[in-house]
Amino acid sequence: MLKAVGQQLEDGRWLAPSAERNREPILAELKRVLPNAGLVLEIASGTGEHVIHFASALPGLTWQPSDSDATFRRSIEAWIAKEAPANVRMPIDLDVRRLPWPVKRAQAVLCINMLHVSPWAATQALLDGAKSILPAGGVLFLYGPYRRFGAHTAPSNAAFDEQLRAIDPEWGLRDLEAVVELAGAAGFRLGDVVDMPGNNFSVVFRSEG
Ligand SMILES: C[S@@+](CC[C@H](N)C(=O)[O-])C[C@H]1O[C@@H](n2cnc3c(N)ncnc32)[C@H](O)[C@@H]1O
Repeated sequence: MLKAVGQQLEDGRWLAPSAERNREPILAELKRVLPNAGLVLEIASGTGEHVIHFASALPGLTWQPSDSDATFRRSIEAWIAKEAPANVRMPIDLDVRRLPWPVKRAQAVLCINMLHVSPWAATQALLDGAKSILPAGGVLFLYGPYRRFGAHTAPSNAAFDEQLRAIDPEWGLRDLEAVVELAGAAGFRLGDVVDMPGNNFSVVFRSEG
């Protein structure tokens, strides 16, 4: 898994080319929807490059990275050691399926590229966990590749989906409409769905409170 992510530096930081590519377009969307202050919980932070980048561009917010994988948490720690951001907390061990989550309240929850590399039960758990810690109107921001209206949005996504299912039959691109339905049942209303580069989508939900 990690080898597929990218490359590790001597100080323990991992570099993912995908994070380098998508961080600016994602940041532009985050600037539109996040509050000016408060705590943002990032689920499945991966290498930590995203949280470092977003925290530096949005210094009014406090950022809490997390991941269920200890190797990724070590990479996040190494990024924090290198960049010393004032508004990024140390990463926490958070597996979305272990409810209740170790964070009790956040103004926003961010989850980039996790739904397709985890079982469908993790999507349900993400929605339930986020709902339990967000205030009314609080943002749950998802980013990643999705099927739309029963079909892939690009041949490259179809190939990616096949690769994922070969690794684990429970993985694979989700139908965005199914995620929206599950989110509605969990107490979220859909805000924006934004077309992003590389056949990805940003999806913004708000907690109904
Ligand atoms: C493809 S990586 C994405 C990492 C990062 N968000 C990015 O976009 O570069 C998927 C991440 O999901 C995390 N993950 C998978 N299942 C998880 C779970 N049940 N709870 C929390 N994180 C999970 C993995 O450890 C990994 O960091």
